[in-house]
Amino acid sequence: MGRGIIGICLSLFVQLAMGQSYLDMRHHSYREMKEYLRLVNNLCPEQSRLYSIGKSVQGRDLLVLELGSTPGQDQLLKPDFKYVANMHGNEVVGKELLLWLAHYMCQEYKAGNQEIQLLMNTTRIHLLPSMNPDGYEAALNYPREPKPYTYGRANANGQDLNRNFPDLDATACQIPNGQRTDHLSRVMDFRREQRSAMLARSIFQEYPESFSKDVYSALTKRAGETEERQPETEAVMNWILRHKFVLSANLHGGDLVANYPYDASCNGQEMGHYQKSPDDSTFRYLASSYSMAHTRMSKKGQACDPGEKFANGITNGADWYSVPGGMQDFNYLASNCFEITLELGCDKFPKEDTLPTYWGENKNALLAFMSKVHCGVYGLVVDAQTGAPATGAVVVIKGNSHGITVTKNGEYFRLLAPGDYEIAVSLDSNFDDDQFFPITVPECKGPGYAVRKDFKI
Ligand SMILES: *[C@@H]1O[C@H](CO)[C@@H](O)[C@H](O)[C@H]1NC(C)=O
Ligand SMILES: [Zn+2]
Repeated sequence: MGRGIIGICLSLFVQLAMGQSYLDMRHHSYREMKEYLRLVNNLCPEQSRLYSIGKSVQGRDLLVLELGSTPGQDQLLKPDFKYVANMHGNEVVGKELLLWLAHYMCQEYKAGNQEIQLLMNTTRIHLLPSMNPDGYEAALNYPREPKPYTYGRANANGQDLNRNFPDLDATACQIPNGQRTDHLSRVMDFRREQRSAMLARSIFQEYPESFSKDVYSALTKRAGETEERQPETEAVMNWILRHKFVLSANLHGGDLVANYPYDASCNGQEMGHYQKSPDDSTFRYLASSYSMAHTRMSKKGQACDPGEKFANGITNGADWYSVPGGMQDFNYLASNCFEITLELGCDKFPKEDTLPTYWGENKNALLAFMSKVHCGVYGLVVDAQTGAPATGAVVVIKGNSHGITVTKNGEYFRLLAPGDYEIAVSLDSNFDDDQFFPITVPECKGPGYAVRKDFKI
């Protein structure tokens, strides 16, 4: 502790002496990033928390800065939001934007900015500026310009982390229309641990509603399959499953577009196959909220590759190009979290002096998207007799097979695009027509806009 403070004072002193600051908008090596995060944490000790979710192959901590009025505390009906950047080590704009965003929000909170205060008072915001610090160091230290297009993309074991998540798309593809396609992490645990078919059978018996017979047999067939999970992937998977994340974005570079699920085609087509998720309209709404608030993402002629066009700056992932084993669809299929993937520009590792331009382009979009965590419908589900949280109950929207699972405290957060819906909750996943309640979700401008609907079951 003492040494930490001395270290920070010393580094502040060195910075002042050198007439520069870690908090400047520039490229930050891993060591400088760590220092930056510590400085923001020290500037806003009451509104932030710095923690590690695990280590990279080369032993670097995967550092997360949490922002909000109750850092580190699980508060009833307060949703968690996350931004993840630099999963591809050579795609660096998102990393610097998240560092700057953290500093900006901390300062604005203290300066009394009502909008930022409201967002931070109502949300736990988690920022992981670098998911692949080893790849980043490699890209940063490449000696010549221009840097090769993919140098530093993979982690230190040469693995592309955005192909390294369990391929839950393959499982979802086998689930017949109308059957539930959420929380497939049960499948993942079983596959990762490589237990016997016995376990698959017991999972099936415990959650018969979740899997059709076809899916069950596909799972048992895969029982012996090994999947090499990288430490960065493992850390993020556990992080995703540990928190009540509701909304998220994964920040990349190399194009300019907001990409939404599904990322992988079911028919194996590599490009041009629109693979709709049950929440297609909601995902389009969420992705557009980013592209429209960005200064140019939604405008014509902004795509980076010749002939490429993205209407309104958004695209279905599989329609663009198919990515099995990606992080975005893992979020959606394994947890309650809705994630999109943001491509922030053609240049993956741009010159330092262009970073302020990127901030100008993305600032409103980063904030607008974050505030969408407060859209849709949310509430408490309790046992009608005892009043205890109805943990594990499932909330569904009529006509939508993607269920949201009630948290251990009895909460649910169900993102939805504006419109009229019917909602129901069930403990055993039997939904009768007369259990549905009509709700109207209004146009959503952030905190306070979600519709509250509680249930006693
Ligand atoms: C946010 O919470 C702080 C601490 O409880 C309070 O002082 C501040 O007025 C709140 N700001 C807004 C905009 O709600
Ligand atoms: Zn990428």
